[in-house]
Amino acid sequence: MKKTALVLSAAACLCAAISAQAADLKFDPDKFETRSIKAGEKEVKFRAYEGIVYVAKPVDSRFQRLNFYVPARYFEDKKDETGKFDASSAPIFLPNSIGGYMPGEPFTPALDKNGKPNAVLTALERGYVVATPGARGRSSKDANGKFSGKASAAIVDLKAAVRYLKFNDAAMAGDANKIISNGTSAGGAMSALLGVSADAPEFEPYLAALGAAKASDEIYAVSAYCPVTNLENADTAYEWMFGAQTKYEKMDFGTLDAAGFNDRSGKLKTVHGELSGEQKELSAALKSAFPAYVNSLNLKDAKGRALILEPNGEGSFKEYLKKTLADSYAAAKSRDKSLLKPEFFTLETQGCTLGYDFKFDDYILSMPRAKAAPAFDGLRLENPENDFFGDADAAAKHFTEFSAKRGGGEIADAKIIKMANAMNYLGNANAAKFYRIRHGTADSDTALAVPLILALGLQNAGKTVDFAAPWGQGHGGDYDLDELFRWIDRVVK
Ligand code: DHB
Repeated sequence: MKKTALVLSAAACLCAAISAQAADLKFDPDKFETRSIKAGEKEVKFRAYEGIVYVAKPVDSRFQRLNFYVPARYFEDKKDETGKFDASSAPIFLPNSIGGYMPGEPFTPALDKNGKPNAVLTALERGYVVATPGARGRSSKDANGKFSGKASAAIVDLKAAVRYLKFNDAAMAGDANKIISNGTSAGGAMSALLGVSADAPEFEPYLAALGAAKASDEIYAVSAYCPVTNLENADTAYEWMFGAQTKYEKMDFGTLDAAGFNDRSGKLKTVHGELSGEQKELSAALKSAFPAYVNSLNLKDAKGRALILEPNGEGSFKEYLKKTLADSYAAAKSRDKSLLKPEFFTLETQGCTLGYDFKFDDYILSMPRAKAAPAFDGLRLENPENDFFGDADAAAKHFTEFSAKRGGGEIADAKIIKMANAMNYLGNANAAKFYRIRHGTADSDTALAVPLILALGLQNAGKTVDFAAPWGQGHGGDYDLDELFRWIDRVVK
């Protein structure tokens, strides 16, 4: 009798715990403030629901929270001014604030330092609902001083935020079946990963431990600016592209906090240098490993032609990358004829037609490397990516055999490395269908080959991909919001 009572009360306890957890994750539609921001002539009025903790068992509620914004006009005249959407059909723009693999707090609608609306405010102005997720990052620590934001924390947090939106779709404005993710650099890598890795089973235990809402984390579309992704292969790609350049101008990562990464407008502290003899040897060894990687992917262009590299690093993949650069130059030139000298081109007559050849080495030598060698997996675990692959107790680890063998020290768990790279989920049936990827031609934070391979891999997997390398654009994102939202307007139709 006594025993039965005990069992019953334990069961009652469990039920109470479960319902409390569900209650925690319930969106409160009445908890908002109405605000407005003047952007030029326009007044953008919106409802702001801020600081929503999106998991039932947060380990870091400063970052595991989201802000949610809804254009106020949906509650006044119901439709947006172009008549595209209403309160329940408006797609949800989801920009993450991750930079440098550091923790990021939710973005807010604001004007930038030039008085231009940021991506959140632009989205609201254009009739989108906006959810801005925060996420843990490599420097996050828990109450016991243990690291709590190493890989895979950031992607798990973004997934948990998506699950919250889906779980509460009926009570929240916007259509959670039309979530469009956006991010820059490390945040671009996470944006792409969020799109491709939807509902992949290996993330489940992490989501369960956080008490994430029971829902799918599938999203509709991905925007990724200069994604610093494919970290296992980024060192070989970097040397294949930048091997001829020995000068570097590196960010001093030690001096940067999350705010430093997220405010790319400020002057970042940089360290100048020249590759040492040892680094040049490492560069050559890494460069020679890249063709085998590219060839293993069986990449094809839009016409089905194989994109490969010979052991010497030449081949159709390189020609394709050169054409990407040449097309970018041609597009920029046609927009502004006075702007550019064709310094990286030689004109050639091919039979009757006038062709051009892109001088790849001149282009590479025209900008400093943003990294020494190896660019990402530092032999002394000195890079932000080493930090990202640490664990609760270890500040930093390797993530390539190449650097682990030469530098010594621990290598991260193979599964954790896999779970950080969008390339490993290209065949996922639940992956988002639409991708927009940008990487500026003046960006040497990662090799252009990395986002290009991602774009080709996605295209070869049947996705709709819009890839471009804007001419002269350096490391950064959200610089072409008009075009970004025109693309979003098209894909959400
Ligand atoms: C970022 C930049 C880097 O050069 C890098 O290695 C990782 C992240 C960033 O801007 O997010």
